[in-house]
Amino acid sequence: MTDWPEDVVALAARCTFPDPGGPLTCAVSGGPDSMALLVLAVAAGCTVTAIHVDHGLRSGSDLEAKVVEATADRLGAAFRSERVSVVDGPNLEARARAARFSVLPEGAATGHTMDDQAETVLCNLLRGAGLDGLSGMAPGTRHPLLGLRRSETELVCASMGIEPVRDPSNDDPRHLRNRVRHELLPLCAAIARRDPVPVLARQSDLLRDEASFLGALVREAVPDPTDARALRDAPLVLARRAVRGWLAPTEGRADRHPPTAAAVARVLDVAAGAAVAAEIGGGRRVRRSASRLAVVGDSDRVRPVKTERAASSVPSWGLAEVGEPVVTAEALSERVAELGAAITADYVDDPPLLVGVLKGAMIFMSDLARAIDLPVDVDFMAVSSYGSATRTSGVVRIVKDLDADLAGRHVLVVEDIIDSGLTLNYLRRYLQARHPASVEVCALLVKDGEQRVPLDLRYVGFKIPSEFVVGYGLDVDERYRNLRSVHVYRPQSGPG
Ligand code: IMP
Ligand code: MG
Repeated sequence: MTDWPEDVVALAARCTFPDPGGPLTCAVSGGPDSMALLVLAVAAGCTVTAIHVDHGLRSGSDLEAKVVEATADRLGAAFRSERVSVVDGPNLEARARAARFSVLPEGAATGHTMDDQAETVLCNLLRGAGLDGLSGMAPGTRHPLLGLRRSETELVCASMGIEPVRDPSNDDPRHLRNRVRHELLPLCAAIARRDPVPVLARQSDLLRDEASFLGALVREAVPDPTDARALRDAPLVLARRAVRGWLAPTEGRADRHPPTAAAVARVLDVAAGAAVAAEIGGGRRVRRSASRLAVVGDSDRVRPVKTERAASSVPSWGLAEVGEPVVTAEALSERVAELGAAITADYVDDPPLLVGVLKGAMIFMSDLARAIDLPVDVDFMAVSSYGSATRTSGVVRIVKDLDADLAGRHVLVVEDIIDSGLTLNYLRRYLQARHPASVEVCALLVKDGEQRVPLDLRYVGFKIPSEFVVGYGLDVDERYRNLRSVHVYRPQSGPG
């Protein structure tokens, strides 16, 4: 193409593309922003490859690829289509983004506009972000359209006679961003009586400058964030940023989250010598040895069994039947806090409905609910699969059904213990039939090697040996639910 419409040329001049002739890969979904990105990049003289990423979430997404391909052809840009698989469920946006990043080459450009920048700043603000989150996206070749308004990308498409694809998920109020776009920003405009988008974009520019200035100071004061002494001696603001930077997830890892402010403070306590180790979430902890900090416990979600004896923890009324602790009260509370932190991070945009399975999960549920820092809803079901025997019957009966409507909800089943897995298997199918947005499971205990059906357990507290256990909600014949630890059930006579 050589005859570009005047307005397209003028808009291209306001973008931050690489120099003419340079290569640029553009992520093009087919929506107005990314179609405009494609047009403007070619108009700016870049050698463009358009990549369409099909997430396999909506029907008709192969059609979108065709639309993008046709436009790329018409503009003389190269085209490639990539497929990733993302399943619907909690934290969908972040997981889709991570999947997208995994197939897009480094430095690929996206069509984010100034309006997206303002939304990003507000979303991050609501999520409790600090300076970096409020700095939004940095203008440059990866975000060349940040100086343009969304309405201007529509204009580009109109000028070029391009009919962009409309993505219905952009109107889905389940996504925080959509509510910020359709509800919060218009409300801000009405209250402030001015367009908040340029205001927020300008704020983010200033904050980004300040963040990068602080970054330089951090590198000087704490060149190595594992150096406990340097952390201890640095000004608090710089030490915090050093730790955050150290523990921040690498881009595209939706399963990781930046450390919380509380976790950063705990790590600084470790650096200062006030503690030897600190939980940082995701089953990871930071330890100090010889003035060095290190992350340990990476990627190990299932904990080994704690076998230390706490003889005094068996009360006198249980001495005849209650054996040694399998999981101590201390280990339980530590692990429940970790599970709560992981669930908080995973469901930050879509707080779940916790469904506790009575009666065994009652204590776990009440501890876990308090360890989740989100506005969760709570409901209970009662099922019975056991009589008073200590082996599963395989027959599940619903004794108390849910009160809540599950349609469109993210359901997190809270179970005490998985033995054969038959109860859970039945429950999952039962819940799925009520059209929730997702069903995941958080099981406190899983008996090693007992499961006869494949189980997809998103959160597991402990794997324990295959013995009958009681305490922390678990019973035999309704007894021992109120033991603080989980113990082996070892009657002096009778079953077992
Ligand atoms: P499953 O269907 O075999 O997985 O059995 C799960 C249910 O059986 C749990 O929710 C418990 O109510 C009960 N259960 C399984 N093992 C134990 C145990 O060791 N102690 C107490 N209850 C158990
Ligand atoms: Mg149970």
